Amino acid sequence: MLWFGAVIDKLVLWWYARLFSFLIAVFLSFPKRQRMSHNNGIGGEGWLKITEEPEFPEHDFFEKGAVFPVRIRHASATFLDDAMNCIRSISIKFAHNRYKSPFDLEMNTGETSLFWSAASFMQFAKKRNEKWGVEYVEYNRHYPEGLEGAKKAVRRHATSFYNLHYYAKTPFLFMGKDKIKRYAKYRIIPLEDVKESGLEYNISDWDMSNQRVLPHEKRGRNFLKYEYEDRIKRHGASYRLQIQVRTASDDEDPEIFNNMVPWNEQIYPWMELATFHIDKVLDWKESTLSVFSLNNMPKSLGVLPAKSIFDYNSLNYMRKHSELARKARILSLKIFGMVPPIPDNDNRNYSEWGA
Ligand code: HEM
Repeated sequence: MLWFGAVIDKLVLWWYARLFSFLIAVFLSFPKRQRMSHNNGIGGEGWLKITEEPEFPEHDFFEKGAVFPVRIRHASATFLDDAMNCIRSISIKFAHNRYKSPFDLEMNTGETSLFWSAASFMQFAKKRNEKWGVEYVEYNRHYPEGLEGAKKAVRRHATSFYNLHYYAKTPFLFMGKDKIKRYAKYRIIPLEDVKESGLEYNISDWDMSNQRVLPHEKRGRNFLKYEYEDRIKRHGASYRLQIQVRTASDDEDPEIFNNMVPWNEQIYPWMELATFHIDKVLDWKESTLSVFSLNNMPKSLGVLPAKSIFDYNSLNYMRKHSELARKARILSLKIFGMVPPIPDNDNRNYSEWGA
């Protein structure tokens, strides 16, 4: 009868993922023309080169010296105000397209996450309860691990999107030329050896939930996007894409898939995968129409299978099955027109257009 339980677990996960994607598409992406999160962002384009001296196992897709066009998008989650206490992100696709690409990744600041499975993510979504820039009070009280992850991920005082460290957090498959099953994690850091900006220590629990702009805030609502635009126009921005790789084993601990637990860097060091240079910024329309997806990956680097809503790999399962939300947003933008750029002067501390 064990197999019966396993089938039910998988069915529940399938249902969770479909239902969530449907609800986001119908109540958010389509009517409001919005992303589920990360609406406040700026895109760019440039070129990426896979390292000439790979230390990671050989892989057909990551051929040494290979060159790819890249499109990226930096964003702040989830508020439409750069001066708020937000998580910052970079998403990258190996193409100069809005959607189509052989390889996409999405990364946030902070080495660990705020949730760890489909079940935990649903609680996170349910207990947001945002009001004028204060949110997750209840979630943070119930889930201290999530609160710790949030404290490590927010960058209120970031001075640039460039000088931050971004982590994909969840592990992916890495099946190289030798056909040995491995797992990979990715991160992006600046090419230059610059100190990460905006790191904060000892944030109180209340300050974490209160993400509002500080009293007497001088920085504008779009300051990070303007800084990035100026930087790219002046001299561009170069980054390092790095990878951690570990070999799969029959008796592996499920905790290795937990995105709340970083892999030990002494045992699984970050290795150079590629460098890339961004030399062009995208306008608001093109940035908004950019879509990144875990479905844009070769099979040998794709999402790991998940067994239930409590499986750590169910997070990526949810993301892979949220395509409907992405499509609904783009369709709605095409039918009803572009959402307006974020105004410089208006009420602050909001996460939706027209609030
Ligand atoms: C550690 C886990 C996660 C990370 C690092 C992550 C990262 C990101 C990033 C960086 C973006 C912005 C992409 C852009 O700039 O366009 C994004 C958007 C989005 N994410 Fe996540 N995410 C995670 C978990 C999830 C989960 C569990 C779901 C559940 C379905 C999800 C669904 C979405 C959706 C629907 C969007 C908006 C896509 C669009 O409309 O274009 N994400 N995520």
